[in-house]
Amino acid sequence: MLEKIEQLLKEIEDLKASNAEELEALRIKYLSKKGAINALMADFRNVAADKKKEVGMKLNELKNRTQERIAALKEAFEAQDNGAAELDLTRTAYPVDLGTRHPLSIVKNEIIDIFSRMGFTIADGPEVEDDWHVFSSMNFAEDHPARDMQDTFFIESHPDIILRTHTSSVQSRVMEVSQPPIRVICPGRVYRNEAISYRAHCFFHQVEGLYVDKNVSFTDLKQVLLQFAKEMFGEDTKIRLRPSYFPFTEPSAEMDISCDICGGEGCPFCKYTGWVEILGCGMVDPAVLEANGIDSKVYSGYAFGMGVERIANLKYKVKDLRMFSENDTRFLTEFEAAN
Ligand code: DAH
Repeated sequence: MLEKIEQLLKEIEDLKASNAEELEALRIKYLSKKGAINALMADFRNVAADKKKEVGMKLNELKNRTQERIAALKEAFEAQDNGAAELDLTRTAYPVDLGTRHPLSIVKNEIIDIFSRMGFTIADGPEVEDDWHVFSSMNFAEDHPARDMQDTFFIESHPDIILRTHTSSVQSRVMEVSQPPIRVICPGRVYRNEAISYRAHCFFHQVEGLYVDKNVSFTDLKQVLLQFAKEMFGEDTKIRLRPSYFPFTEPSAEMDISCDICGGEGCPFCKYTGWVEILGCGMVDPAVLEANGIDSKVYSGYAFGMGVERIANLKYKVKDLRMFSENDTRFLTEFEAAN
């Protein structure tokens, strides 16, 4: 009898039931009046008197364990059942929590949109570049300070391989494989070896513009940039070009827009000048055209380059540049409406 009980105890542990019928069959097999356990109970009176205590205890254990096991099986598939009942297959998939577009992507897309409408297409180039495309082909002298270790990320074992410090490198990438008319914008990430603070980061984003054709003049550049400023910052926006210097343009200029906070009156944001700087630009230096395989006697061109973070700051008044790369969702969800 003890053997039989032991065997049933083992059997009980392995019981399985995946629906109510199977469970009921098990209950009948073990726990019903005509079930296996009751049969043993009936046999109990035949057990020798000195074994009754031991066998009795085992028999009770078997009964309890069987009841527990069957209750556990019931609970398990009832939980599954409930799950199925709660899953409403007719429910619509919405509203779902959508992600938000990153503010820099919003601004970048807006810049792309504006220039696309003016006939510019998008060109791309690598972030890990060589010295030629970033500096030499862009007319940087051998000893130009921008090549300095302070600014550029170099790879010690391969001094020629660098992280591009500006998207002007894509100008060179485009010109070396195509002939005018060229009209491209090049959005992308750039890297500079700067100490990270609220106003500087070791990486940021730029959009470069390049237009090369016959008879391209500074007037064309000015008109395109004015149109861009109006579309980006509003119809009343004014622009101002100040003479500047870049190795790859001659003449070079920096462009300011009228401060859209005070409307040009003067405020802390524009440091009481009424103007804020947004980009660098100029006529492509003939030496750059020649270095990249374009005949500077036939063609001329203009170029410009702007920082996406800078434009985003002007639009959204973000005081700390680091917010753009921290991915704090409290900051990012602020731009839900702008999506
Ligand atoms: N590459 C410059 C920078 O990173 C920006 C720039 C200035 C781009 C003038 C141009 C340009 O194409 O003509 O500061």
